Amino acid sequence: MAGDPLVLGIETSCDETGVALARGFELLHDTVASSVAEHARFGGIVPEVASRAHLEAIGPTIAATLAAAGTALKDVDAVAVTAGPGLVGSLAVGLATAKALALALDKPLYGVNHVIGHALVDQLASGPFDGPALALVVSGGHSSLLVIDGAEVRELGQTLDDAAGEAFDKIGRVLGLPYPAGPHIDRLARAGDPTAIAFPRALTRRQDLERHPYDFSFSGLKTAAARLIEAAQDAGRAVPLNDFAASFSEAVADVLTAKTVAAAAAFGLDTVVIGGGFAANSQLRDKAAARCAAAGLRLRVPPLERCTDNGAMIAAAGVHAIVHRLSPSGLDIGADSSMASTRLVA
Ligand code: KG4
Ligand code: ZN
Repeated sequence: MAGDPLVLGIETSCDETGVALARGFELLHDTVASSVAEHARFGGIVPEVASRAHLEAIGPTIAATLAAAGTALKDVDAVAVTAGPGLVGSLAVGLATAKALALALDKPLYGVNHVIGHALVDQLASGPFDGPALALVVSGGHSSLLVIDGAEVRELGQTLDDAAGEAFDKIGRVLGLPYPAGPHIDRLARAGDPTAIAFPRALTRRQDLERHPYDFSFSGLKTAAARLIEAAQDAGRAVPLNDFAASFSEAVADVLTAKTVAAAAAFGLDTVVIGGGFAANSQLRDKAAARCAAAGLRLRVPPLERCTDNGAMIAAAGVHAIVHRLSPSGLDIGADSSMASTRLVA
């Protein structure tokens, strides 16, 4: 292929059908169809509903992306698709579509990692990484601290239980907030006092840090928060929503940013990238900006609409794989619901 490759990115790991076209690290167009409204009344994602929604959305979303970018399928140089992690039935829809396209077009297929894609997407906004970067990927399903060095990815730590977004969604449910609750808690928190309630910060004591320097745990925080809500309800008191949300968010943002900045120092990295749906959280963004600035670190955070699931992150991962000369995937790859965070291409 002459010049920068035109990569079609397809994302179907959860409840968003995302399709994007990128020429090198320049994003041409990005379309997202979400089935989130269909899951809201169940208070969480229903896998069968998600797969069916992907099946209905995938064709029109690809057509809309090609039309908006003014390109034809025959111009595509490579097809990138999420191979994992995610819901098997949902992943299968994107994979089957991508394989059919790659086969029909006779172009390479890259089955890429969704978690790493959440960090790589920032290259479409702020240009290619110019050296190794420390990536904090936080979403409804993941909280991982990765070192991305070209095609090589190392995992320094991850959550031992709930992901950051998951903890927000679960506490939101106890509070009676709509699903997903992350953005609602964020909004409430902006009017609250983050020091009002002293919530626990797991794995930050000295003996824990020795064993889990870069791991996270949010289930203890979630339980403490749920108990507080129940105690208030039992006593007939209203939960001070703004202060509660601000203190809860502060506890999560504090641990995430403290461990990220400590990892950057320990591994001599000067660039921090934060991605994933939870990177939309304003407390996390503010705290990361302040702590990275104080530590002399360059902070890269994708634009808000590229933090939640989208096709651009998968197109970016495909371009990254091509630029760093990784081999394409075989047409026999399967959906890998628990794909290792260290593996960019299946
Ligand atoms: O990356 P994403 O779209 O899907 C997964 O791969 O999980 O992330 C969705 C998650 C949900 O848990 C949602 O509540 C959370 O991101 N989220 C937020 C905010 N916006 C989205 N959490 C806290 N504050 C936000 N502003
Ligand atoms: Zn995601």
